[in-house]
Amino acid sequence: MNRKDTLYLTADLDGIHEAAKLLRAGELVAFPTETVYGLGGDARNDDAVAQIYAAKGRPSFNPLIAHVASPEAARRHVHWNDAAERLAQAFWPGPLTLVMPLKPDHGISSLVTAGLDTLAVRMPAHPAAQQLLRSFDGPVAAPSANPSGRISPTTAQHVREGLNGRIAAILDDGICNVGLESTILGLAGDPTLLRPGGLAREEIEAALDQELHVHQQGEALSAPGQLLSHYAPDSAVRLNVSTPQGDEILLGFGDMDCDLNLSVAGDVNEAAAHLFSALHLLDKTGRPIAVAPIPMHGLGAAINDRLSRAAAPRDQ
Ligand code: TXA
Ligand code: MG
Repeated sequence: MNRKDTLYLTADLDGIHEAAKLLRAGELVAFPTETVYGLGGDARNDDAVAQIYAAKGRPSFNPLIAHVASPEAARRHVHWNDAAERLAQAFWPGPLTLVMPLKPDHGISSLVTAGLDTLAVRMPAHPAAQQLLRSFDGPVAAPSANPSGRISPTTAQHVREGLNGRIAAILDDGICNVGLESTILGLAGDPTLLRPGGLAREEIEAALDQELHVHQQGEALSAPGQLLSHYAPDSAVRLNVSTPQGDEILLGFGDMDCDLNLSVAGDVNEAAAHLFSALHLLDKTGRPIAVAPIPMHGLGAAINDRLSRAAAPRDQ
């Protein structure tokens, strides 16, 4: 599938209506969320969902998140429970995805779930995403809007660089303010952290008043998309560096001497918001990338998760 022109839409009322119209016609639209830009298609339409996998070059065993306008909309598709209710009250709309058992007659394309009997659902907080979901009035399947395995997009320009000519439109509404993908929590059994992300584990544990089970590599229940090499720039990436070597360009954290700093103040939320933009930018220099140590508390866990995948061997 190759198109000549990807439409560029401003996220005003007209742009949102045009985007919803394209989704209804089975087309793909990239749209902003507070985490990263998503590549949206009608989650009930097999053809639209198949196009998402094709446009990204994504393996079809890696299921997608269904984006919904409200908790009520989520409950149409999955078996809701007390933990979900508590978490939705506390954190929706926001950067938290819940993986829950599908209902019979859920209406979701089996390509979205890659044949699993669970569905990942999320209600995003970004106003343009909410308006789009309300205007479309149905579930929108959306992975991050980047070619599979590459750095996730936090601006419309990042989306354009990766997917121009492969999707119908990009709805532009500036920079994503969380900057890391949502935290994914499995709620089919004991609450299990499947992917660290834009909502800190500590906050979820406080809301549930219990410790989360953390998914270990090789365990049966998992987020199948957690491939080791991911978020990869073209350049090599080396972690926990205080002194760069050779031609390396240093991405810093906190008050230090470096080429680009994720947060001079040493704030992990600020660093999360800047991470993907920094990697996109440094990648353009063509120089190997060295990254200073980032603490593990709060969103630091998700930052370190993404960095370790960006630095992993790329033999897949
Ligand atoms: O913030 C986000 O979550 C962004 C925005 C666009 O919402 N989306 C995103 O989607 O990061 P994606 O496709 O890049 O990552 C979705 C992850 C994958 O690792 C996938 O394996 C996992 O969710 N996933 C989806 N459905 C699942 C399921 N039923 N069980 C376990 N993991 C699932
Ligand atoms: Mg992704």
